[in-house]
Amino acid sequence: MRGKFISLEGGEGSGKTTAIHCIRQWLDARNIPYIMTREPGGTPLAEEIRQLILSPRDETVNNTTELLLVFAARAQHLAEKIQPALEKGSWVISDRFLDSSYVYQGKARGGDTEILNQLADWVVGDSKPDATLVLDVPVELGQERVVQRQHQDRLDKESLAFHQKVRDGFLERAQAEPGRVKVIDASLSLDLVQQQIEHQLSQLYSTWSGNV
Ligand SMILES: Nc1ncnc2c1ncn2[C@@H]1O[C@H](COP(=O)(O)OP(=O)(O)O)[C@@H](O)[C@H]1O
Ligand SMILES: [Mg+2]
Repeated sequence: MRGKFISLEGGEGSGKTTAIHCIRQWLDARNIPYIMTREPGGTPLAEEIRQLILSPRDETVNNTTELLLVFAARAQHLAEKIQPALEKGSWVISDRFLDSSYVYQGKARGGDTEILNQLADWVVGDSKPDATLVLDVPVELGQERVVQRQHQDRLDKESLAFHQKVRDGFLERAQAEPGRVKVIDASLSLDLVQQQIEHQLSQLYSTWSGNV
């Protein structure tokens, strides 16, 4: 029985890492096999590409370069880690995946949606996540939550307008694919965020456990 593939999406400070802790507990309680992973990255080669993408640098990073690096890392991640795990029956939980490309390289950087669709068809095909949870918070709240962070990467340092586009972009992804992409109101207390996440997990589980 193929595992379920879940991605977590949202801007910095929206609560993705916190959501992953909650999902881990939920899966452990049911003895469901799973792996946790992240994008860009997830394999040694893909993590090297991540460093290339996220390191602050003096040279301007061309938008097409950034886009192709992200998809190069994703091809490796899917072939070497995600697909094999799903085939073995593990669930796969990824901190970011394809929707981040539509949002960061597309909406925020002005990348062409048609090109993104073509790359998504080519690189991801029908291996899209079974469910994508968008952790949605107002930009200011996300910024407040990460303000203590020591290490800020190249994208964290973008303007408020950039982060606003990121938020809007994720909400547009949910409108474009409402069956797969679910918005979680992550501005609420941890308890209430957890309840929303567990509701989505239960929906997935009911389509999975019935067939085990
Ligand atoms: N619902 C919440 N209420 C209050 N604080 C939260 C909530 N979700 C996350 N946080 C806190 O906000 C910060 C950023 O959350 P994190 O999960 O690291 O976000 P992300 O991984 O999306 O950048 C962390 O310090 C976390 O403990
Ligand atoms: Mg995180």
